[in-house]
Amino acid sequence: LHGAYSSIFTASYELITILGANSSSSAFPRNFLFGTASSSYQFEGAYLTDGKGLSNWDIFSHKPGNIADGSNGDIAVDHYHLYLDDIELMEYIGLNTYRFSISWARILPKGRFGTLNMAGIRHYDNLINALIGKGIQPFVSLTHYDIPQELEDRYGGWLSPQVRQDFAYYAHICFKYYGDRVKYWITFNEPNVVAIRGYRSGIYPPARCSGSYGNCSSGDSEREPFIVAHNMILSHAAAVDIYRTKYQEKQKGSIGIVMNAVWYEPISNSSQDRLAAQRAQSFYMNWFLDPIIFGKYPEEMKDILGSLLPDFSYDYLKKLKNGLLDFIGINHYTSFYAKDCLHSTCEQGPGVSKTEGYYLRTALKNNVLIGESSAVDWLYVYPEGMEKMVTYLKNRYNNTPMFITENGFGMLNRPDSRINYDDKRVEYMKSYLDALLSAIRKGADVRGYFAWSLLDNFEWLSGYTIRFGLYHVDYETLTRTPKLSAKWYKQFISNFTSFE
Ligand code: NOJ
Repeated sequence: LHGAYSSIFTASYELITILGANSSSSAFPRNFLFGTASSSYQFEGAYLTDGKGLSNWDIFSHKPGNIADGSNGDIAVDHYHLYLDDIELMEYIGLNTYRFSISWARILPKGRFGTLNMAGIRHYDNLINALIGKGIQPFVSLTHYDIPQELEDRYGGWLSPQVRQDFAYYAHICFKYYGDRVKYWITFNEPNVVAIRGYRSGIYPPARCSGSYGNCSSGDSEREPFIVAHNMILSHAAAVDIYRTKYQEKQKGSIGIVMNAVWYEPISNSSQDRLAAQRAQSFYMNWFLDPIIFGKYPEEMKDILGSLLPDFSYDYLKKLKNGLLDFIGINHYTSFYAKDCLHSTCEQGPGVSKTEGYYLRTALKNNVLIGESSAVDWLYVYPEGMEKMVTYLKNRYNNTPMFITENGFGMLNRPDSRINYDDKRVEYMKSYLDALLSAIRKGADVRGYFAWSLLDNFEWLSGYTIRFGLYHVDYETLTRTPKLSAKWYKQFISNFTSFE
């Protein structure tokens, strides 16, 4: 085995030269952040350790049939215990930032209805201190899908306005304990995904309207995503307000939100298809960003949804001023075509959505894919989408500072010795970084890039069947082994820093 690995690495260095690791990194702006991203449920494991409460994902993943390989995040990659080793891996690559999330249930096992779990508080203290000790900026998400199950059981989680109080309380604690050292805060990771997958398709917890959980009445799946989104927007606003009024001046950090950002390319040049692409974007991403930046839902949504969309109170608008965020976080991986179905007929199918304004999203145009398909069913390689996405956000939101908070390539779990020879991932990262650089050169204010992910980890519904890591994880022994991509990223970053 040893021989096999060393020949992979000899080959890998040749490949690094072929792929030109050094091509463009030196052209990124000074002080640019290069990191990797992770999340508590996908990485930590230790699901019952040191007083942690159960989260909605603990409960959901334990129900048979929910996760492809029957797995769960009980152990995950045991980052809770192995974080010091993992920081060494970050140091090896040369990262200057690390994005992770705090497990809400680890520090407030019962939300605001119970006590603060000091062991949980200490864990993140240690993690943050260890990162800073290595010159790695912590970039911290308050929620990354997992919330204390207690909040679901008591009042239905995000469906209830009560959750805003809980979130504000939790955010306050995090700012208080960690804000002296954490300079980048994210309130939510991908609230659009939570709203759609948790309450429309029901494939994520709390699995509303999914059939197997069936605890909803007709019409709920058309209403609930918008109720939940509204509660998340107001929760975000409450946290930002606390940060700005009580902490920001002293702690000198910034706060933002992370959206799952798909580029929608009009399938033809017709104005109707272009409007459909715009509609798709509004129903997916601007759904949250417009209220947080402009104080209202996008017009396309109002036109179609009417009274299904709640109003914003005077109080909210008073807080808004120049927008309730300091930066936009973008998780961008893939692109789809959008086709109008309002004025022309579309075949009914999974991408045709009445609630979302009758657009069809598809990867196919004349039977040709928008980009090379990966092992992940939603991930097509279309680097142009990165430049278009960033440019779109720059124009729509007046060049608000942006971070690419996630970008990465998923591969199937193949039990062979070439698994760490991930040349496809290297090509993907290189082409997306080039496209990002091109947007930056044209003036987009992008300040950092995070690869998803440092390690292979628990990929939600796919369990451990899909690997996104720059490091391979052997799930039996938890051994981490660098893939070609880790070495490539290291070289890419070292060219950047040596130029600085
Ligand atoms: C976005 C999510 O934030 C992350 O949790 C997930 O693993 C990646 N996409 C890949 O699907």
